[in-house]
Amino acid sequence: MNSTVVSMAVDGVVAVVTMNKPPINGLGAELRAGIADALDAANADPAVKAIVLTGTARAFSGGADVTEFGTPKALREPNLRVVIGLVENNPKPVIAAIAGQCLGGGLELAMGAHFRVALADASLGLPEVKLGLLPGAGGTQRLPRLIGIEAALNMIVYGAPVAATKFKGTPLIDQIIDGDLIAGATAFARQVVAEGKPLKRVRDMKLKDPNAAAFLQFARNTVAATAKNFPAPMKCIDAVANAVSKPFDEGLRLEREAFMTLMNTPESRALRHVFAVERAAAKLPGVPEDTPLREIRRVGVIGAGTMGGGITMNFLNAGIPVALLETQQAALDKGIATIRKNYENSMKKGKLTPAQVEERMGLVTPTLTYDAFRDADLVIEAVFENMGVKETVFRALDEVCKPGAILASNTSYLDLNQIAAFTKRPQDVIGLHFFSPANVMRLLEIVRGAKTAPDVLATSMALAKKIKKIAVVSGVCDGFIGNRMLARYGAAANGLINAGALPQQIDGALQAFGLAMGPFRMGDLAGLDIGWATRKRKAAEAGAEMKPVVADKLCEAGRFGQKTGAGWYRYEAGKRDPIPDPAVEALIAQYRTDADITPRKVGDDEVIERCLYALINEGARILEEGIAARASDIDIVYLNGYGFPMHRGGPMLHADIVGLPNVVRALRRFAAEPGADASWQPAPLLVKLADDGRTFN
Ligand SMILES: NC(=O)c1ccc[n+]([C@@H]2O[C@H](COP(=O)([O-])OP(=O)(O)OC[C@H]3O[C@@H](n4cnc5c(N)ncnc54)[C@H](O)[C@@H]3O)[C@@H](O)[C@H]2O)c1
Repeated sequence: MNSTVVSMAVDGVVAVVTMNKPPINGLGAELRAGIADALDAANADPAVKAIVLTGTARAFSGGADVTEFGTPKALREPNLRVVIGLVENNPKPVIAAIAGQCLGGGLELAMGAHFRVALADASLGLPEVKLGLLPGAGGTQRLPRLIGIEAALNMIVYGAPVAATKFKGTPLIDQIIDGDLIAGATAFARQVVAEGKPLKRVRDMKLKDPNAAAFLQFARNTVAATAKNFPAPMKCIDAVANAVSKPFDEGLRLEREAFMTLMNTPESRALRHVFAVERAAAKLPGVPEDTPLREIRRVGVIGAGTMGGGITMNFLNAGIPVALLETQQAALDKGIATIRKNYENSMKKGKLTPAQVEERMGLVTPTLTYDAFRDADLVIEAVFENMGVKETVFRALDEVCKPGAILASNTSYLDLNQIAAFTKRPQDVIGLHFFSPANVMRLLEIVRGAKTAPDVLATSMALAKKIKKIAVVSGVCDGFIGNRMLARYGAAANGLINAGALPQQIDGALQAFGLAMGPFRMGDLAGLDIGWATRKRKAAEAGAEMKPVVADKLCEAGRFGQKTGAGWYRYEAGKRDPIPDPAVEALIAQYRTDADITPRKVGDDEVIERCLYALINEGARILEEGIAARASDIDIVYLNGYGFPMHRGGPMLHADIVGLPNVVRALRRFAAEPGADASWQPAPLLVKLADDGRTFN
């Protein structure tokens, strides 16, 4: 045996074969070959009567090596199914000894063994469905034989891991080991030898369950609603049904077929992309992984409005004390009361105990003076979106904060470099752009200023993890990654209204594509007055007369969205359901007449193309300018901050799937229309990638 990742030690009649490929014994080509060689070696040794197959404390095996997916290594023999067959057909008994993770291909391998022992807290699961797949190495055929249809369906269709101790008394786990796993497993193996126990092959077990049909039907009904976007759960059910109705080998063959089909679906491609890219986002150009971090023990937040309150809660939840500052006692009281109300709502839902609510509230110190920030390690400003106000705040922070404190702004659009220049320590200034509601939304855009120090960036990334956010780094530009792209998307949607579509059609088409909410519903939720004020301010700054858009007409009529009971839609008191409004149609018709536009019919496909290609084109510019480090960072922003559907994998992956030359062709068509906005010109990077036959991801 000369494997670097599998070792064997013979202890009397027992050979202990250990898999050791950090971090989680991913079943890549090397590990698979190592297991096969170890079995050969153990079988060749006449002293060996039984084999214990084990991993590390962290993982028996976390499953297939996802980095091999789609590469020749994934196909290199022996493949996982072959290895499992070798284990199952081994002439000497094989006992899987399980600690830590035993997931996906790892559990399939363990189910190939004749016996299984585990530590009580070992984690067993078949999570393939979360990647839009099904267990492709016998999992759907063996697990039902070991734990019954209902329990197997739950694990395979939902993918959640289960502690080994829950399987006590089922043939899945023959023994829970207390204390040392290897000592326990070796003792178990000796007993198997001493008693001459017959080898239990799971494939030979009979699967009989009078309730099988009912369980399968129930499962089908449950997943039917989402089956259009997520085909994998239904395929999982079909595969388990085959375990009931078909011979084992036929079930295996059909499982394999379904696996290959799913592997080629755009949904699985998207879900695997999502899984892989979050790790990539943590790698920052110019910031070595061993950059020393600053300690964040006390936080300050300025502004107890919509964002400040939610931002504060993130830190209270993580056990970090926060001093929360406002200019007026009344605003402070209101902000603190809102935080308490949010926690009490969680308490009513049973998510927090009364003691936890008090513990969290005990961590927040309301204040009206900057003195409270003297010992803060990080201060985040969430005051009005106005450069003058930001200037006052940052000059004050520069006066009072200790050296090395990180000074952060939650600004959505303003120039972070200008904000940093209000201080004598621009290296300590960074953007921490939370999304509303800040205590709920997982995305955090971290805005790297021209002078932001690497350790400030690295500390912010680590902090994001601590408060359970997904962080993406953006450079400085108007709106950063997310809102800058959103502006183009909104403009495309407005263009469609002008051309002849109605808000409900555009929202409907984009929601059918999978977006959580179309742009007009989103506008009504966020408040149309914000954009109106911005447009007025920008026009005034440019000294130009404002060219009104339909949204301005709505605002002039007092329709600011949900908060005024009317916007692009109307709303009934106390309800949030958007109701199409003839008054809006009339207003749009009048707008078109005034602008001399003859409305035309707009198809749903055009809605999707224009809105998404506008996003993608701006994404390409953002990438080209280095505002985002990689296309997948843009996807993360849209998936976690803007309700982009997971099964599409983000706008940039969507472009890859559509085919970049097709996106370019459509953009050129839009750009060539009379009076078209220059932003429809395809971004040079997009054209170059398309010409070179390459993709974003
Ligand atoms: N609302 C959103 O969806 C959202 C999302 C991301 C970022 N942001 C950004 O967050 C910031 C705050 O937005 P918001 O929606 O929470 O606004 P908000 O109006 O709800 O709250 C701002 C709060 O800041 C307080 N304030 C104003 N000047 C102050 C000062 N000098 N010192 C102390 N407190 C002061 C106000 O009293 C108010 O309570 C803005 O920069 C905004 O662009 C907003």
